[in-house]
Amino acid sequence: MKRNTLSPQTKAAQALHMLDRESGAVVPAMHSASTFARDESYEKRDGFVYSRYGSPTTTQCEQIIGALEGGESLLFNSGMSATVAVVEALPMGAHVVAQSMMYHVGLDWLNRQAARGVIGFSSFEEGDLAALEAAIQPGKTKLVWIETPANGNWAITDIAAAAKIAHAAGAILMCDSTAAPPCTTQPLALGADISFHSATKYLNGHSDLTAGVLTARQGLDIWDEIRSVRSFQGTVLPGFEAWLLIRGLRTLFVRYKQASENALTFARHFESHPAVAQVMYPGLPSHAGFEVAKQQMQGGFGGMMSLLLNGAEGRALNVAKACQVFIPATSLGGVESLIEHRRTVAGAGRGIPENLLRLSIGIEAVDDLIADLAQALERTA
Ligand SMILES: Cc1ncc(COP(=O)(O)O)c(C=O)c1O
Repeated sequence: MKRNTLSPQTKAAQALHMLDRESGAVVPAMHSASTFARDESYEKRDGFVYSRYGSPTTTQCEQIIGALEGGESLLFNSGMSATVAVVEALPMGAHVVAQSMMYHVGLDWLNRQAARGVIGFSSFEEGDLAALEAAIQPGKTKLVWIETPANGNWAITDIAAAAKIAHAAGAILMCDSTAAPPCTTQPLALGADISFHSATKYLNGHSDLTAGVLTARQGLDIWDEIRSVRSFQGTVLPGFEAWLLIRGLRTLFVRYKQASENALTFARHFESHPAVAQVMYPGLPSHAGFEVAKQQMQGGFGGMMSLLLNGAEGRALNVAKACQVFIPATSLGGVESLIEHRRTVAGAGRGIPENLLRLSIGIEAVDDLIADLAQALERTA
């Protein structure tokens, strides 16, 4: 049987069937060495020299993610260091277009680089393709950066349409697909040039490491430059984290499916709750991005949603404090459910409503999650 024809779920569960070469162990060995001996002819063995350029466990993990995404992957020690490398690899003065609502630290980085004159930067309203087209400066814009579903309101951008707009202007499209891992969305197959994940989230799924991964289509001009930036900055993912990430990836499909099922049940339940003004979840027909999400998230809508609450100022924060099953922490995509008062965490002045709660629904029994939020709403009424 040809392994490359196996389904992505099988490839993930078996970690590409990477048995340990020496022992036959069904789990790949973990290598943490910083340097690699040359062979008798003073040639590199397996291409490894020094771990800042790459090492065996990290490479194995890249091969697994690359197989799921349909491209070549590079792992970084955080999501941020991965996206920083993309911006660093652009020609000096390049113009970048990104959403006005996306992961806020990425936005801070773009604004900072623009303020220093390293790049030009324009933003557009998330999900709005006409606004994207208007923000592009043909010939000058080198990178279009979308995030779908987008942090905050989980707006959906049509990746294929965004790719056409970017390419027509001579730009590349990077898609932050952190909330939609490859078991549900493959940005490269839809025309994106780079698929990006904070692997800290769904890809790992256990909230026990930080990592970022870029996967590029074949022949991307700036790919070698991105790899060089990673080597200069020393932001490659170390072996132990890569090993943990391989373990997380093996259960990606079942974790994401369970989180998606839980989230849909949860969203439907609270959509008609009197204390809830709006449930922002791309799996609900009431969400503006529902039709596109159905097309490009065929493996589930994921566990991310936001709720807008009715009631007095301060209530949302009190609800976050009153939960006993949801954990009051930032981040997303882990097996445990998290609740976050987003404005407190991301900061005021970012347009995040005071009454917004961001939820990362995990894989627990959904009835426990529903009961927990219900009691918190009751106690803060
Ligand atoms: C959508 C998204 N992109 C990027 C990042 C940055 O990733 P990291 O925290 O791994 O650096 C995050 C982190 O929360 C995120 O949610």
